[in-house]
Amino acid sequence: MSSRTTGSVTVTLDGTNRSASLPLLSGSLGPSVVDIRKLYNELGIFTYDPGYGATASCESRITYIDGDAGVLLYRGYPIEQLAEQSDFIEVAYLLMYGELPTKAQLAEFERGVTLHTMVHEQIRRFYDGFRRDAHPMAVMCGVVGAMSAFYHDSLDINDPEQRRIAAFRLVAKVPTIAAWAYKYALGQPFMYPRNDLKYAENFLYMLNAVPAEEYRVNPVLARAMDRILVLHADHEQNASTSTVRLAGSTGANPYACIAAGIAALWGPAHGGANEAVLKMLSEIGHPKNIPAFIEKVKDRNSNVKLMGFGHRVYKNFDPRAKIMQRTCHEVLAELGIKDEPLLDLAMELERIALSDDYFISRKLYPNVDFYSGIILKAMGIPTSMFTVIFAVARTVGWVSQWKEMIEDPSQRIGRPRQVYSGPTQRDYVPLGNRG
Ligand code: CMC
Repeated sequence: MSSRTTGSVTVTLDGTNRSASLPLLSGSLGPSVVDIRKLYNELGIFTYDPGYGATASCESRITYIDGDAGVLLYRGYPIEQLAEQSDFIEVAYLLMYGELPTKAQLAEFERGVTLHTMVHEQIRRFYDGFRRDAHPMAVMCGVVGAMSAFYHDSLDINDPEQRRIAAFRLVAKVPTIAAWAYKYALGQPFMYPRNDLKYAENFLYMLNAVPAEEYRVNPVLARAMDRILVLHADHEQNASTSTVRLAGSTGANPYACIAAGIAALWGPAHGGANEAVLKMLSEIGHPKNIPAFIEKVKDRNSNVKLMGFGHRVYKNFDPRAKIMQRTCHEVLAELGIKDEPLLDLAMELERIALSDDYFISRKLYPNVDFYSGIILKAMGIPTSMFTVIFAVARTVGWVSQWKEMIEDPSQRIGRPRQVYSGPTQRDYVPLGNRG
């Protein structure tokens, strides 16, 4: 890895003459970090940072966010440029290998992904064990985890070739697994992938086609889906990526690690927010109800959040949200939807929130999920699939971060410490002697 020591920080225990000089490390962008690894040995203390708001858990060369400036870079390239000029498969290559591919490299990579899109036929039968009304994220956790039971030849994490194959399999098969989770809920036949279609196109095909008739994917919708995939592909050390890294640090196989990431993504504070935004908009129902809803959000005792707003890192507009908003208008125009009450409601909600001191003072802006749900809904995708689509997109980010971690010589098992505040040592009291 390539961070440099650029200074030091001295920590002194007040009231004693004990202090430790800790190296200050700098990467290529962003704040420097204090390397606290010898703090416990030298001073006998740990650091405390619930939610990891001030802790760098690893060194990474993949994604950079400047939350104050609203900047998101994949391998140095701004997300706006990638969303406009690139596509998901090229971005996937970039995230996995660190550089933009040449024409030949891209063709070979795309072919490699395409060749892995089918899943083991036995996996079809795995779906039958789920209830038809199972949430598709539950199915995703199960089926992706079960891949470890099917692909035994890519479980050795110490073999670079097996890691490479596992990465390809995950990126290639996850749309198939996701589309089948949807088809299973609908009771429709599963559609096999088509190798003549691009990644996003093929995903839409497997979601929407039926064997009884020909299905042509609308190119504007394919482009919108591709953009959604690009925008969600990676986001540095967020909760699900950190989960993948933590699971991976134990030596667990990549399929199990990605299943762990899918589970973490499901929560409404993370990837589940896109589904929660639509539920929230439906509950608000009409712009006249916005002021009362905003009052509820501002009431500390209500526990109600404005879903799709706020971010741990972005304290300025989420750059992905701007692109999403534009894409949303494009998709509605293409579909001839002139009047979408949910979009009107979302825009009015955004306008009111952005002029309210509660949101301004806390630097709460729309995040990527505020508009993505409206796009997906307009594309005919049911709410329960929104987070699944996020998972399909994020798989390449998880896989890239997992590979980077395994290949990092400083990698150790992730094992946080704690401040223990439970009972001090006491003697067991036999049941008969207890009051
Ligand atoms: N609505 C109302 N108040 C909020 C919101 C919100 N969406 N987000 C943060 N706040 C308030 C929070 O109550 C706190 O207020 P106070 O200082 O008075 O206690 C203040 O803003 C700071 O928030 P925080 O809880 O310290 O922020 P966090 O970094 O811990 O949480 C978050 C970040 C994304 C979990 C949170 O903003 C949130 O729950 N947002 C809604 C869910 C959502 O849209 N999540 C998607 C995130 S983007 C996609 C992804 O990464 O998965």
